[in-house]
Amino acid sequence: MSNKPALEHVAIIMDGNGRWAKKRNLPRTAGHRQGIKATQAIIEACVQHEIKYLTLFAFSSENWNRPKSEISVLMDLFVESLQSEVDTLNEKGVCLRFLGHRPAFSNGLCKHVQQAEELTRTNSELVLSIAMGYGGRWDILQAVEHIVADVLDKRLAAEDIDEVLLENRLVTAGIPAPDLFIRTGGEKRISNFLLWQLAYTELYFSDVLWPDFNPQELEKAFENYRVRQRRFGLIQEQLV
Ligand code: IPE
Ligand code: IPE
Ligand code: MG
Repeated sequence: MSNKPALEHVAIIMDGNGRWAKKRNLPRTAGHRQGIKATQAIIEACVQHEIKYLTLFAFSSENWNRPKSEISVLMDLFVESLQSEVDTLNEKGVCLRFLGHRPAFSNGLCKHVQQAEELTRTNSELVLSIAMGYGGRWDILQAVEHIVADVLDKRLAAEDIDEVLLENRLVTAGIPAPDLFIRTGGEKRISNFLLWQLAYTELYFSDVLWPDFNPQELEKAFENYRVRQRRFGLIQEQLV
């Protein structure tokens, strides 16, 4: 029997687009455009590797504080990518989910997001979650708000609140915790990504800027993960 840890869910902070562009004397938005190309190749590679869940951090709740001009280009790029990619993803059997606080998005973007989710709902090759307008603190807070409302309305007893219940109110409900977290771009931080969900995830940091991150770099991360021993608090002798 193989003792390699199972790899079902990969979560990625796609960082470094701005620096990639700056190095080439291009506007930051050119980095975001190039970043989308890298994203397409990585999604394809995950399908090939039979990864079941891929979660990509595309825009954080804190990214709303960036210059308006950059946000506006990013939002246009999201709409453009959805328009051009959803049919191809659907044909590949990809189920799309969007994680994040939607009210701040334009009606147009919300419509594309909903249509993409509806079109791909029953697909099961790969569940691709795009975290947009997402923050880990926001996620936990919205879960708590829903739980409190249920308790006040007597749909739920306070003593029934446990980890599983809270987990099922997070926007990632139904998706197992990530096995492997990858952050590109050299920074070694979580930046308010999946705070609850990453509790026992294996972390991998790459100095490669996201637009340069390719399937070979992904393979390096997978190889690094395969030799890790996940103990979840146990001692080695307890592991089968
Ligand atoms: C990641 O790249 C993309 C988003 C956060 C939208 P950055 O835009 O953060 O690029 P750097 O980190 O400034 O290079
Ligand atoms: C994290 O990158 C968010 C995304 C990649 C979408 P940031 O560039 O926003 O993170 P910080 O500011 O370096 O922590
Ligand atoms: Mg960054």
